[in-house]
Amino acid sequence: MPKSIDTIPPEVPHEVTARLEGVTKVFDNSTAVDNLNLDILQGEFFSLLGPSGCGKTTTLRMLGGFEEPTSGRIFLGGRDVTYLAPYRRDVNTVFQSYALFPHLNVYENVAFGLRRQRLSKIEISRRIGSMLEIVDLPNYEKRRATQLSGGQQQRVALARALVNEPALLLLDEPMSALDAKLRRQMQVELKRIQSQVGITFLYVTHDQEEAMTMSDRLAVMRHGRIEGIGTPHDVYDSPSTEFVASFLGASNLLDGTLVGRDPEHATIKLGDATLVSIPVGRMPDLDDSSVAKVGVRPEKISILAQGAKTPVRHNHLRGRVRVSTFTGVGNQYLVESEFGAEVTVYAQNIGHESAPRSGDEITMAWPIEHTFAVRPMQKTHDDNDEASEGD
Ligand SMILES: Nc1ncnc2c1ncn2[C@@H]1O[C@H](COP(=O)(O)OP(=O)(O)O)[C@@H](O)[C@H]1O
Ligand SMILES: [Mg+2]
Repeated sequence: MPKSIDTIPPEVPHEVTARLEGVTKVFDNSTAVDNLNLDILQGEFFSLLGPSGCGKTTTLRMLGGFEEPTSGRIFLGGRDVTYLAPYRRDVNTVFQSYALFPHLNVYENVAFGLRRQRLSKIEISRRIGSMLEIVDLPNYEKRRATQLSGGQQQRVALARALVNEPALLLLDEPMSALDAKLRRQMQVELKRIQSQVGITFLYVTHDQEEAMTMSDRLAVMRHGRIEGIGTPHDVYDSPSTEFVASFLGASNLLDGTLVGRDPEHATIKLGDATLVSIPVGRMPDLDDSSVAKVGVRPEKISILAQGAKTPVRHNHLRGRVRVSTFTGVGNQYLVESEFGAEVTVYAQNIGHESAPRSGDEITMAWPIEHTFAVRPMQKTHDDNDEASEGD
């Protein structure tokens, strides 16, 4: 980029709360964040989702001002803040460890940020009272931080950040210390709080369920880059890469070769010569005869009754049930297709079908519109590390 461009005022639209423009961060020759471009919109709940080490925290720290990018620029509210100190940015952060002041009570913990703002005592007390209502901790003002449960401490940390009414709230895996049940409860709560206060949230997590349930939009990161971005619905239903398809929810991904196309559909041949149709809008631009992975989500597949014909506008595949598991809400089947690939099927427990058993020969069918294709992923050593990671 020519130097003179710095002097031209940037055109950041009003509705963009935060913008990353070609942001790269290199630590000792290793690239943590790789030429990231991202707009976070006013009032949205946006999540950065990805495995450990993909660059989420580094991205957040650059937005917060705790880290300088190696190159690229960062805007907050239309202003270039790339090299601005954290305290001069209209941003607050909730970290994984809440870092409350243990010797202070809840009121003083929440008041901490406000005290620097020269507000009247009455105004401070009013704001704290209303914020403790919002995070559902009314009448907790006098409690010490050490007398609170993990979930309550997290609410105080949230109140302490939100009470400053920042333009952007950064949250770095704030629920990772909570147990699974409390975490699910807090997901609903956090979403409610965000809608109530209307502050833009940038939430970082490696937990796909968390990102899906709370976000207006999310981005899936891998190796410092964004591989997929959109509403949870869009990214789930039309994943742009194999990594996104397998990181966000469960996917069946079957090896195939592109053998034909018309303006609306492409045809991919699977290992046993079964042909499947894919809407062209749900696949990358592939050359003829290139290899691809055909994707379909397990809940989109139905198992046809014996002798039933494949419904129109459906793809189908034959196989043998290897494992059938009753999960309460439904049945999960592991089916071995005729050409050896394994396919997972989730069938809802709605009670009117006779469930196939293991060993049964069956036909699976799913709507063409729910079929997608991705390029096969270049696996790296890192991906193996990522896959084995979890907590
Ligand atoms: N201060 C640092 N010095 C050197 N390497 C770092 C530093 N911070 C992060 N990294 C490296 O950058 C990569 C991305 O890290 P991070 O942003 O923490 O990922 P995430 O939050 O997605 O787990 C990792 O490989 C990590 O080891
Ligand atoms: Mg992190």
